[in-house]
Amino acid sequence: MAQADTRQSGSVYLSKQLQALQADASQNPAQLWVLRGQDLWQTQCASCHGELVTLKKAVARYPKLNAQGALVNLEDQLAHLAKQGARALLQDEVLALSAALYDAAKGEPIGTTVVQPYYDQGAQLWHTRMGRINLACVHCHEQKVGRQMRADTISQAHPTGFPIYRLSWQTIGSLERRLRACYSGVQAPLPPEGGTELRALELFLKVRAQGMPLEGASIRR
Ligand code: HEC
Ligand code: HEC
Repeated sequence: MAQADTRQSGSVYLSKQLQALQADASQNPAQLWVLRGQDLWQTQCASCHGELVTLKKAVARYPKLNAQGALVNLEDQLAHLAKQGARALLQDEVLALSAALYDAAKGEPIGTTVVQPYYDQGAQLWHTRMGRINLACVHCHEQKVGRQMRADTISQAHPTGFPIYRLSWQTIGSLERRLRACYSGVQAPLPPEGGTELRALELFLKVRAQGMPLEGASIRR
């Protein structure tokens, strides 16, 4: 008999109030970025691509190797495409388009596949103690799941609900930003934005969450 799937989205670990905010599209602040991304899509992308949903399978497969052989996530791909276009997209526009694309891919199972050697690097980082607190990802996100840490309940760290509108940020942020927040939580030096370390971790997390449905831009505390 197949083992039961005990993986759970981060939204399961939210307070009831935040779950209600998440469910109410008229109040959910993440929705502002989705709408803005949809507008950008209509004016700058739809002429070639058609509807956003046509990219949902592609969205669910990041991070992956690009044509140049580099491991990229969706935001890297968007920033890169924008450079080839008439005008560079601002970081905020990249996040808006990411929110709109992940929204269109809601329900799509994560289809990221192992890319070596990055997957092994990510798995190793997952188990490596770091920072003054000297804990690895695995210690919190597998061994302390459900425990309180400050005002958060520690989740299993499945990246199904990104980008996230985090109330403590008062804005939307990528998975990369959330991962850097975990480094700072254990008082470890922050890995560089866009660097191999964070992309390898994202790859590892997405493969670990393979088959789980994407949930679109989500609220976090
Ligand atoms: C000291 C405990 C701790 C460590 C170590 C830690 N995190 Fe976290 N992490 C948290 C807390 C607390 C949150 C916010 C609540 C939640 O979603 O789990 C969080 C959130 C996350 C989330 C967002 C989940 C969601 O649905 O919003 C991801 C992904 C994540 N961590 C990955 C990692 C990775 C990868 C590492 C190792 C590089 C790591 N964390 C190390 C405590 C930790
Ligand atoms: C001039 C036509 C054109 C425009 C405008 C355009 N794209 Fe593309 N886009 C393409 C082509 C061609 C590809 C490559 C298709 C492929 O992957 O084979 C592509 C690929 C992509 C991919 C990668 C898909 C994958 O398979 O991973 C994404 C994401 C994307 N475009 C997003 C956008 C966004 C967002 C915009 C607007 C800011 C945009 N594109 C504007 C033509 C265009």
